[in-house]
Amino acid sequence: MGSPILLKRADEIEKIHNAGRIVRAALDAMRDSIVPGVSTTADLERVAAATITAAGGTSAFLGYAPPGHPPYPAWTCISVNEEIIHGIPGRRKLEAGDVVSCDVGVRKDGYFADSAWTYPVGGISREIEKLLRVAEEALYQGIEQARAGNRVGDIGHAIERHVRRHGFSVVREMVGHGVGRQLHEPPQIPNHGSPGRGPLLQEGATLAIEPMVMMGGHRIECLADQWTIVTGDGRASAHYEHTVAVTANSARILTQGD
Ligand code: MF3
Ligand code: CO
Repeated sequence: MGSPILLKRADEIEKIHNAGRIVRAALDAMRDSIVPGVSTTADLERVAAATITAAGGTSAFLGYAPPGHPPYPAWTCISVNEEIIHGIPGRRKLEAGDVVSCDVGVRKDGYFADSAWTYPVGGISREIEKLLRVAEEALYQGIEQARAGNRVGDIGHAIERHVRRHGFSVVREMVGHGVGRQLHEPPQIPNHGSPGRGPLLQEGATLAIEPMVMMGGHRIECLADQWTIVTGDGRASAHYEHTVAVTANSARILTQGD
């Protein structure tokens, strides 16, 4: 991913936005389907797939096979509690007090958008409530840095500073990414970094910014399914992601549903 950032024309950004609206609709449908003690992650997968299909999109994740991985077997990633990202939907039941991270990527008319959100299941502890709040705030702190003239390191720096200030830690091994003509494009966007370092951001860059936040230590593990990433200490984690377009003065969020 040392290659240059692909800059998109306005008409391409509109297509990414169209994909992004479908991503948001699918996430909203998943959120609305969470019924504590009843829903499974497979139930959420089903409503997401139905929403995406009805809108004329397809999953950007199904069949995706980066080197060294088996093809991803589902439309969405659904990660519960200690699962950080890339949880495979299945029979796991959602219980009150859990948190569930839903990650959706859609391809529509040849363009891609990607977003993730962590939802509480029923009532959650105050500590986990704080984890979700801080992780979501960190996403917006990162997005604020995604403007022309800044560098990729400015995004990661803002994210990690906010997370650490509140006593949590970012996942260092997994990164955000360019997105648009492909699900994953250059540059990689770590959730930590040094201000003024890394690739230059220019108008027309489209980026998936995605902090993954843990309560405890930095250690992570991958399960035997070769996809699911979990916290080493078994404590809960949170994941928030938006696809944004870099403009002269700010970032435009393309997965907000407007
Ligand atoms: N949002 C995640 C990412 O950008 C989801 C990828 S899941 C995969 O890496 F199945 F497509 F790999
Ligand atoms: Co992503």
